[in-house]
Amino acid sequence: MIALDLRDRVAVVTGASAGIGRATVGVLVEAGATVLAVARREENLRELAETLPSGAVIPLPLDITEPDAAAWVVDAVEAAGGRLDILVNAAGGSRTVAVDAPDSAWDEAMELNFSGGRRLSQALIPFLRCSEHGRIITVTGSSEPATNPVFADASRASALNASNSAKAAAHAWSKGLSRELGVDGITVNCVAPGTILTEQLARIFPTEEDRRRHVEEMGIPAGRFGAPIELAHTIAFLASDLAEYITGEIISVDGGKRRFAF
Ligand SMILES: NC(=O)c1ccc[n+]([C@@H]2O[C@H](COP(=O)([O-])OP(=O)(O)OC[C@H]3O[C@@H](n4cnc5c(N)ncnc54)[C@H](OP(=O)(O)O)[C@@H]3O)[C@@H](O)[C@H]2O)c1
Repeated sequence: MIALDLRDRVAVVTGASAGIGRATVGVLVEAGATVLAVARREENLRELAETLPSGAVIPLPLDITEPDAAAWVVDAVEAAGGRLDILVNAAGGSRTVAVDAPDSAWDEAMELNFSGGRRLSQALIPFLRCSEHGRIITVTGSSEPATNPVFADASRASALNASNSAKAAAHAWSKGLSRELGVDGITVNCVAPGTILTEQLARIFPTEEDRRRHVEEMGIPAGRFGAPIELAHTIAFLASDLAEYITGEIISVDGGKRRFAF
């Protein structure tokens, strides 16, 4: 029988207080890993730790856009035993912007959706190099523009989303990094969600009717929104030994939403 076994593995997961990151913590722990769970909302992290086996989750409340965030995570990894096998960069969020948006809006989106995870990865590579199963998995997204007519505030309905550009940067960075780290046995991949029902999507599509209309308008072949656990399973697979030969990839988990072959 094929087993997804992550016993004795140590992981850092950002965006762990909600949505895809939170579901990922649950699946990695179920597979046997110990997880340092990073996000700003400490109460969510503590509540998550309490729902999972004692000691399996170490809450690490911090803002990944802070200049010292990567150093704080390094300190926490060292305090937890100095070992790391898996990094999942899941913190992020959609940032619809107007055509004349100021630099501050673009900079914030890039920090959250690209630079924060890139800096953290760089800081943690020395630990991953010591693992025989090093993994960097970044949750990105599609770069296909979509105007959401259901936004209550019409000014937010823009085809321009600064997080798309940040995620595209993450795709290019991840590919380059995969070529540098292959020699160390570290795989570097991205998982690109389609439309997954998490906190941020529940805010944009608050009712069943909003969601049904979006599925129809976007022509999502699966006929529904995805669930965070569906992303978490893909991430756990990439983190496992079963995915040892997969690197430099972008794997969409989108119910077929993306229209282009690549
Ligand atoms: N859901 C989708 O359909 C979809 C589509 C495309 C891409 N994605 C990507 O998937 C990833 C997860 O999104 P989600 O839908 O699960 O979102 P979510 O439910 O809104 O969760 C976002 C997570 O990121 C954390 N976060 C936000 N800003 C942070 C910061 N400055 N420092 C540390 N943590 C921060 C949040 O925690 P705190 O608020 O506690 O800090 C939360 O845990 C994101 O990268 C998102 O861009 C999602």
